[in-house]
Amino acid sequence: MPQLYLDEYARHLAGRRVCIACREGILRDHFGEIVADIKFLMRMNVATSLFHNLPNRFANQKLLTELEKKLPATNFVRVAPELDFYEAVLSHPDSIDKLIFLERRYLMDRQGKKINALTTGRVLESLAHFGDLIGNVNFKDAMKRICAKIEAGTCDRVHILPAGKDTIKHELFTVEGSGTMIANNFIEEFRQVHTDEEVAIVFRILTSYKRAGFLKPRSKEYLNRNREHFFITAIDGIVVGCVEQKVIDAQTVELGALAISTRFLKQRVGVYTVNAFIRTMLALGYRRFISLTGNPRLQTLFKQLDFVEESPSEYSRRQSESPGVPMFYKAVEDTDETSRYI
Ligand SMILES: CC(C)(COP(=O)(O)OP(=O)(O)OC[C@H]1O[C@@H](n2cnc3c(N)ncnc32)[C@H](O)[C@@H]1OP(=O)(O)O)[C@@H](O)C(=O)NCCC(=O)NCCS
Repeated sequence: MPQLYLDEYARHLAGRRVCIACREGILRDHFGEIVADIKFLMRMNVATSLFHNLPNRFANQKLLTELEKKLPATNFVRVAPELDFYEAVLSHPDSIDKLIFLERRYLMDRQGKKINALTTGRVLESLAHFGDLIGNVNFKDAMKRICAKIEAGTCDRVHILPAGKDTIKHELFTVEGSGTMIANNFIEEFRQVHTDEEVAIVFRILTSYKRAGFLKPRSKEYLNRNREHFFITAIDGIVVGCVEQKVIDAQTVELGALAISTRFLKQRVGVYTVNAFIRTMLALGYRRFISLTGNPRLQTLFKQLDFVEESPSEYSRRQSESPGVPMFYKAVEDTDETSRYI
């Protein structure tokens, strides 16, 4: 069961309208689940609209009446069935904060993996490169329109989710979400852990990678005791990544426990977190950075950021605590380089 962060995300949704767009067949097949999710949004005081293309036939009257009865506060927008549904929804004149397309499947990449979050730049780039990211070929045109709408500034975020039990709730109120989010306005910040809730999220992120075996386990007690040494990257105010500050000597600090929540992997949040950590530590007077990792992804990331794989003799004690794990090292000595970070 994913962890819900109701208060945190509700704050972001306050005063905004969530529009849900769902084609006829999907609405029929998942009627109860969709109604339950929209009712949940209503209970969270979120304004909702439902775009659908149910034909206005006699046979549908019961369903239409039931919708209106069950969702009295929802604004219904019926798209004529002969129109292209996506075009009609995306060309709706109202400016929309959040638009959710309910589909039959996840948006997947070529390897069949769910795509978690994307910027319009990444979507368009991958469409141009033979659709690397977009496995659902018939969705390509809709994706182009979605990007155009976000880039024109008439919609903040578009989500593409498989219809099903709690998928809207999980998309909007959990860190990992349940589908794909497309947006250009992720606001990142880097700072020390503040609250118990943030300690709990850091614990969840670190534990989610337990099986991969690259991270040394950290108990909740350890995190609590050392919370002033844990730094987080937050997007929209919610923790999505963390790093531990381990002081080695007066000028050296180690980056430990670097981990990014699965939703935001491969979005350069790792690069942001490492650079922000270096910037913060430079301001505190540290000049040398080490990190020990067997994770090939992190090794590539460090090399990209001009860390070198070496184990300087002054850190032999630290190295001996993790025998066989490669050490990465970077020194920011001169003012020119320091000013790149500050
Ligand atoms: C390692 C980790 C922090 C990287 O975070 P991330 O936000 O996905 O990384 P970024 O998007 O900033 O990636 C930057 C670079 O890392 C490398 N990288 C990221 N994902 C990669 C992948 N799947 N395969 C190979 N390289 C990868 C690439 O060089 C990438 O640069 P590019 O975007 O130009 O290709 C993340 O994968 C993670 O949390 N892993 C689990 C925890 C862990 O094992 N931590 C190490 C503890 S020792």
